Amino acid sequence: MKRILLFILPILIIIAVAFTLFGILQVRSEEEKLMDDLKRKARTVAESVELSAKYAIVNNDQRAAKRLVESFQRRERMQGCVIYDKDGKILAITERISSWGQKDNPYLKDVLSSKNARGAIEKFGGYSVYSYTLPVLDDENNILGSVEVIYDTSYLFTTLADLWKRISITLIALVVLITIITLLIQRQIFVLPVRRLTQWFTHFQKGDTEKLRPFKEKGEFGKLVSEVEQVALGLRVARKVVTDEAHARIEKQELWTESKLRDLIHAKLGENSFFVVSNREPYMHVMDEVTGAPRCVRPASGVVTAIDPILRACGGTWIAHGSADADRKFVNSKDKLGVPPQDNRYILKRVWLTKEEEDGYYYGFSNEGLWPLCHITHTRPIFRETDWQMYKKVNQKFADSILEELPANNPFVFIQDYHFTLLAKMIKEKRPDATVALFWHIPWPNPEVFAICPYQQEILDGMLACDMIGFHVQFHCNNFLDTANRLIECRVDTEKFSVVRANKETFIRAFPISVDGYIGAQPAKEELEQIKRIRQEFQLQDKLVAVGVDRIDYTKGILERILAIDRFLEKYPEYRHKFVFIQLAAPSRTHIKRYHELIAEIDELVEKKNWKYWEGDWKPIIYLKRYFSPEEIRPYYLLADLCVVSSLHDGMNLVAKEYVASKNDLNGALMLSCFTGAARELTDAIQINPYSIEEFADAIKFTLEMPAEEKRKRMENMRKIIAENNIYRWAASIITELAALKKS
Ligand code: F6P
Repeated sequence: MKRILLFILPILIIIAVAFTLFGILQVRSEEEKLMDDLKRKARTVAESVELSAKYAIVNNDQRAAKRLVESFQRRERMQGCVIYDKDGKILAITERISSWGQKDNPYLKDVLSSKNARGAIEKFGGYSVYSYTLPVLDDENNILGSVEVIYDTSYLFTTLADLWKRISITLIALVVLITIITLLIQRQIFVLPVRRLTQWFTHFQKGDTEKLRPFKEKGEFGKLVSEVEQVALGLRVARKVVTDEAHARIEKQELWTESKLRDLIHAKLGENSFFVVSNREPYMHVMDEVTGAPRCVRPASGVVTAIDPILRACGGTWIAHGSADADRKFVNSKDKLGVPPQDNRYILKRVWLTKEEEDGYYYGFSNEGLWPLCHITHTRPIFRETDWQMYKKVNQKFADSILEELPANNPFVFIQDYHFTLLAKMIKEKRPDATVALFWHIPWPNPEVFAICPYQQEILDGMLACDMIGFHVQFHCNNFLDTANRLIECRVDTEKFSVVRANKETFIRAFPISVDGYIGAQPAKEELEQIKRIRQEFQLQDKLVAVGVDRIDYTKGILERILAIDRFLEKYPEYRHKFVFIQLAAPSRTHIKRYHELIAEIDELVEKKNWKYWEGDWKPIIYLKRYFSPEEIRPYYLLADLCVVSSLHDGMNLVAKEYVASKNDLNGALMLSCFTGAARELTDAIQINPYSIEEFADAIKFTLEMPAEEKRKRMENMRKIIAENNIYRWAASIITELAALKKS
């Protein structure tokens, strides 16, 4: 529209200016013509009256003079006549203009003395009039008196105004006509061909090759179209070659790597890239409070840690809530951007939510309802009808956003987590051909617990539209099958591990998620410098260092951890001055009351315990409460003798796996809560029950005193497990399983 305006506006301005100038000239000439006519008329009338007036003046015949001036009374418009004697006294005046005579007429003396006629525009009683005064002379050219004829000129202005009106109407008609013609022409020569090209491209983008007809356009545009067609053809051929080569390479490699996963995805999904949906976006653009400039951060999120390497490996599109304050500044016209920002590997599409939507869907239903429902931490879930309505609305908003992106044939949508239980159904309603999998990153409770959710039916119904639902551990799969069996009408197949509802079969599988692993990666020079700096800053030389890395969440057992450290130092005072615990804590979901309270509880407890043991320049707990990037966290992992993961309940817990993966020198030990999914795989970790503070405290001592060789052995075993079961294998298993299920 702006472009069309830019094109039409100058034309219209030129026409308007030209027409206005023409109008001014036209009106002026018309005005002059009308004035000339009026003057001529006034003179003729005055001259025709002169003779009779002369007679009346000479004979002082008042009656004749009166008759003469009254003959004007009958004429239309404001007209009149005045007869003066030689002294300028009125002999007779038309009644209609009788008050004219009371005017001081200085020009009258001039006419009588100069004996010359005079015509001029005058003002009279709010009217504009033309007055023409003619001297009456005898045969010897002596002045006898004068005759004044007065004409109303207002009709002149009415006539000129009419003329302006006609010119303006013509101008408007011309502008409208030119605009319509321009729009029609530009639609024909520009809009329609571009629209055809856009449609062609949309089909190409979505892999709808059936609809790709050869494109016929002439002229310069035709040349552009032809170039575009060549590029598209090249891309199609390249994609096909990549798929074929990928099939061949997968067979050869053993350990799962980024490139092996890339090959698998190309082989299984062919030309169609795949779509990931999650609430949390992998890259957030936030305004830096100090510099006031936007910067890109990676949020503290297990989902992001796990899925980002997969998309980096194989490309595709990740659709997520654009929740950061500078996010809108970095997207294109379709709300998309290439990420990672410095090395674009895949597309991030941001979905915008209003404050009310975010409150109801994210803070309310997802995190005050489903989150505590699924985690056994004795925090009561809150279910509000308004939150549920927002949750449904936001699921629909995401569904619409995803549907816009899906290619024409067999797309693969991979949904993350409890924020989107209704999404699969919404997608399948419009695109039954889409393969949809949901991965549940948190625990699934038993049927008694899940049954307290007022919206259990809709949630299960929405989830069972998926082709497959994944959990971290078999125990959660079993809980889900039990829940479906007890709470909705369906058939649970315990052999195939599937749920059949309304003729739709959903497979339930356990896929323990993992990390891409720094396995084999030596600490970089900058990391070694960082470690040195941290040791100096917190005076860690000669100290045994334990580390904890968490979002501040009541499921993470941070309070229990501090209580255990307190008990450990109380019970084993020989460790005072020798042991330091560093907690990196990222504030999270801070608008929720429970989280807000938790932050205050942790602050208070840390303060209290540090105060209890503080001596000289040693205090037992270093509490760093802020967001830490993965690059900032790694030096802490590298320097720590011990990593403490004390979740009260956790689907997997990737901090445990990240710590093990980073311990290249095998010098470290992991304390891991038995209530995490990771505890099932990492059996060489020192397992703890975080609710038992006494046992927890003893476990710290046990770990610190464990012989170095045993620590190395345990670390080696755990690293082997992570190397073999890394995130690429996790993604590959899901995709392979889905592809197999689809075929069977
Ligand atoms: O791992 C569970 C999870 O809820 C993820 O879905 C999420 O990315 C992460 O915890 C962090 O939570 P949030 O995105 O609410 O900050």
